[in-house]
Amino acid sequence: MRTKIVAGNWKMNNDINSSITLINDIKNGLAQKELNVKVVICPPFTSLSIASELIKNTPIKLGAQNMYFEKSGAFTGEISPLMLKSVGCEYVILGHSERRTIFGETNQLINKKIKSAVDNGLKPIFCIGETLEERELGKTFEVVETQIREGLQGISETELSDLIIAYEPVWAIGTGKNATPEQAEEVHLFIRDLISKIYSQKFAENLIIQYGGSVKPENSKDLMSKPNIDGALVGGACLIADSFIKIIESAQ
Ligand code: PGA
Repeated sequence: MRTKIVAGNWKMNNDINSSITLINDIKNGLAQKELNVKVVICPPFTSLSIASELIKNTPIKLGAQNMYFEKSGAFTGEISPLMLKSVGCEYVILGHSERRTIFGETNQLINKKIKSAVDNGLKPIFCIGETLEERELGKTFEVVETQIREGLQGISETELSDLIIAYEPVWAIGTGKNATPEQAEEVHLFIRDLISKIYSQKFAENLIIQYGGSVKPENSKDLMSKPNIDGALVGGACLIADSFIKIIESAQ
């Protein structure tokens, strides 16, 4: 039985003050609730420290939105896995489509980051997904397969015991246009089968595969009630405490 995970990707939003407000609102909204869902927030680097303080003694976990694969050194502007650990991060989003398209991250770079994350005790939320053009050309499965094979290359099943995959069709991110539950389920099933071929059936059965791309309170329940959709990676809707909480509740 897989426990669903709902993660909020804040992207480049919220300074310290608005981070405090949002976290307190989420905390208050979730207080007194029996959660059988895991909740993760991924604020920008500058708010990780305060976030870590504020979520102490709550069920909310902390994640970062990116990291570099080296532990330290002359890498101006980068953040290492050790730094993320020291500030209280348990999770790290890697390979997000905005990192791939705006910042030119390749499957090879993402592979190094995933390896480094697991070596350093962080749980990767590994994002994959096709563009609209790729979907219209009928290449969805091919693209997703390449991203998975290259992204996880050389990393063993044991090392990946805390891996989460987030299927995020690029055409659904920030567009308001989500994949239908059927479209998403079809790809999630494909991913689980592929993982079972690359690794083992047991590993594939336990793997958390989140859906991301315009998840909102209005569509989250239908998406997450599909058998292979184990939670959500939420962008825009996680910036409003009320809608993030509704999405978490819909995963129960
Ligand atoms: P969105 O973003 O919910 O705003 O579409 C999702 C994501 O990029 O993780």
